[in-house]
Amino acid sequence: MGHLLDRTLFCLTTFLATITTFQYVQPVAAQQYLLGLGIGDITGPVVETNIMTDTGLHMRQRTRAFLIAEADNPSNRVLFLNLDTAMGDSGIHRGILAALQKQFPGVYSESNVAVVGTHQHSGVGGYLENLLPQLTILGFVNQTYQAIVTGSVNAVTKAHADLAAGTISVGNAIGSLLSIIGKTVLNANINRSPSAYLANPAAETAHYQFDQDKDMTLLRFNDVSGNARGFLSFFTVHGTSLYNNNTLISGDNKGMAAYLAEVAAEPNSMPGATSFVAGFSQSNVGDTSPNTVGAFCESPGQPWDGQACDFNSSTCGGTNEDCHGRGPGFRVSDFESNLIIGQTQAQGAQGILNGQLTPVVGSVRSVHQFINMPSYVFTLANGSTVLTCPPAMGFSFAAGTTDGPGAFDFIQSDNSSTPQYDLNTYFKSKF
Ligand SMILES: *[C@@H]1O[C@H](CO)[C@@H](O)[C@H](O)[C@H]1NC(C)=O
Ligand SMILES: *[C@@H]1O[C@H](CO)[C@@H](O)[C@H](O)[C@H]1NC(C)=O
Ligand SMILES: *[C@@H]1O[C@H](CO)[C@@H](O)[C@H](O)[C@H]1NC(C)=O
Ligand SMILES: *[C@@H]1O[C@H](CO)[C@@H](O)[C@H](O)[C@H]1NC(C)=O
Ligand SMILES: *[C@@H]1O[C@H](CO)[C@@H](O)[C@H](O)[C@H]1NC(C)=O
Repeated sequence: MGHLLDRTLFCLTTFLATITTFQYVQPVAAQQYLLGLGIGDITGPVVETNIMTDTGLHMRQRTRAFLIAEADNPSNRVLFLNLDTAMGDSGIHRGILAALQKQFPGVYSESNVAVVGTHQHSGVGGYLENLLPQLTILGFVNQTYQAIVTGSVNAVTKAHADLAAGTISVGNAIGSLLSIIGKTVLNANINRSPSAYLANPAAETAHYQFDQDKDMTLLRFNDVSGNARGFLSFFTVHGTSLYNNNTLISGDNKGMAAYLAEVAAEPNSMPGATSFVAGFSQSNVGDTSPNTVGAFCESPGQPWDGQACDFNSSTCGGTNEDCHGRGPGFRVSDFESNLIIGQTQAQGAQGILNGQLTPVVGSVRSVHQFINMPSYVFTLANGSTVLTCPPAMGFSFAAGTTDGPGAFDFIQSDNSSTPQYDLNTYFKSKF
């Protein structure tokens, strides 16, 4: 029971480094921190693990570690791990922490380590401990789990050994600004459910220029001379450039972006063996899609073949199976689209990295809290005390998305149900 409860705990780790923006007042002297960066290979068995993705390798999966400590008091430190996995699973988090506590007693704990997945959809499966992904992957694969934990710990070991004085600066650019200087991230995502977005109140949508977040935010890690040792960027786009019929293991577009940025910085190093570390972390991913051309019907022989899918329901001739999102390289292949979306993010990061950045100053602190989401008690604005319900999954979840359509007669925007629909919901969505 304790274990079951544990699975429903929502784990929240927030890192606070005070970012003071003074550039219009006076230049701020950059503050010194101790910084460490490292890369570890986390690719598990690339064949014969899961049902969808198991015939070989397109690109290895890696963990990139970013370590920030106070120069005066290095025990005040935060460790951010960006994993080329679908999710920063709590079982993986526990495994990494257990190994780190053995190797570096008292240094790393759940309160100062964040484990984040890039949310690719083509990685080696079998490491997640929750029911739904275990059903789709047909169980737990210890070899995959061990590869992710061990490789992540290797990344931390390098970052830890690599700890050296340096400074951090931060930059943020929205797509439209970047496109002026030719470094656009504007074209790296779209909203895959624009009709759902339109259901927001007009007063809400009036706040935004786009129906999707186009911001990229980047932390630049400098050595004492100001040379970049690497960066950690945040941008929102699903790792679904490769379609759900892909059978090769890959880090998808964020894995590609990291590879391109690292190889550009150190062209003579082997991939994954660079000292320059490029982090492309996922942010508010929601309904973002890398399939930026839009969703079209692939219905050979039907009158609607090649036409845009129905706007509200993402269907073709009334069903959703034929409605597929297209990436910018769709005429060539989904691998071409993956390359383009990876390049677009890598160029966006490069643009921010080499642009005007604000020095980061302040102390290094982290906050961590477990929240039991199914019975979280809180107070409404009108003073009533209320509590959240057990988790539930809307059955239109089974419609999948235009990045990976579901099956049978589930469609997006549908809102009626039958008991067997409720059961089937578990089995019929790939995304
Ligand atoms: C998983 O693999 C590790 C390392 O080989 C081993 O120590 C552990 O006992 C295995 N766990 C299970 C459940 O098989
Ligand atoms: C994979 O799916 C895409 C999108 O539907 C399709 O264009 C492509 O032909 C499929 N590839 C294979 C190998 O079936
Ligand atoms: C989509 O649904 C909205 C709200 O029900 C409706 O106003 C609109 O006409 C629909 N659009 C299309 C293209 O069917
Ligand atoms: C406060 O708001 C909730 C939700 O609208 C409502 O159910 C509740 O009755 C309200 N409580 C009071 C004291 O008005
Ligand atoms: C379900 O959708 C129909 C058709 O769009 C709408 O008329 C109805 O109000 C919706 N029901 C609920 C419970 O949202």
